Amino acid sequence: MAELCVLSNVTVAFGGLKAIDDVSLTLHDDSGIAGMIGPNGAGKSTCLKVIAGALKPTSGNVEVLGHRLRGKPNTAKVAREGVARTFQIPRPFARMSVRENVLVARLATLRRGRGDPQAEVDELLERMDLSDVADKLAGSLPLAARKKLEVARAMAIEPKLLLLDEVFEGLSDTEIQELVGILRDLHESGIKLLLVEHVLRALRQLATYLVVLDKGCLIAEGEVEEVLCSDCVKEAYLGFGGAT
Ligand SMILES: Nc1ncnc2c1ncn2[C@@H]1O[C@H](COP(=O)(O)OP(=O)(O)O)[C@@H](O)[C@H]1O
Ligand SMILES: [Mg+2]
Repeated sequence: MAELCVLSNVTVAFGGLKAIDDVSLTLHDDSGIAGMIGPNGAGKSTCLKVIAGALKPTSGNVEVLGHRLRGKPNTAKVAREGVARTFQIPRPFARMSVRENVLVARLATLRRGRGDPQAEVDELLERMDLSDVADKLAGSLPLAARKKLEVARAMAIEPKLLLLDEVFEGLSDTEIQELVGILRDLHESGIKLLLVEHVLRALRQLATYLVVLDKGCLIAEGEVEEVLCSDCVKEAYLGFGGAT
């Protein structure tokens, strides 16, 4: 497969507001970890929703992992094809333990009678460095662990493409570095990543390809440092404090 996703002239309108405005974007299988940046309200989360099949564009075509998305929004179908997404605001089942939260996601996708879901979940928790808090209630976790749990729940469906919406937001430097290491390992194990991110120091360490949205439009794409240095990107970020 040559392309992870292809958006062709995609527009998403909410009433009179175009959250995404005629965006055409191709992410290639071999373009490494892709990043997406843009000021608040630029349309980044909307773009992830479209790729995850949670939102049908008002116009335009979407192809994900070689499948054209047609008909009504269907996240379950897109998930089965191998796309998982984390939410900007973590959404665990607060009154269930960390292990149970991941198990629910695992059981929802597992073919009946195959594998050992408990063991697989424990292995995944280990990989996400969540073993120590496996029995804690998800609602009691500090932010960094909640963010890792969000990634673990997405990973439980064994995705080929993982869409991450601002997973580094609100984390300390040490927590950022830990999560950078975890995501790098996931990528090295063959999972494709698209990171929507404001925390540029995390993005710079991970992404090799960068796309920039501003007011619903794609204003730049290409190699990370080149894009960050381009005049239109600096302008879009003026007053936004995009140097972090
Ligand atoms: N469900 C919705 N209904 C109405 N407007 C929305 C909805 N979702 C997003 N928007 C609007 O679309 C624009 C882009 O939103 P979003 O994709 O969340 O931006 P970002 O993630 O880049 O901050 C914003 O102006 C937002 O208010
Ligand atoms: Mg957003």
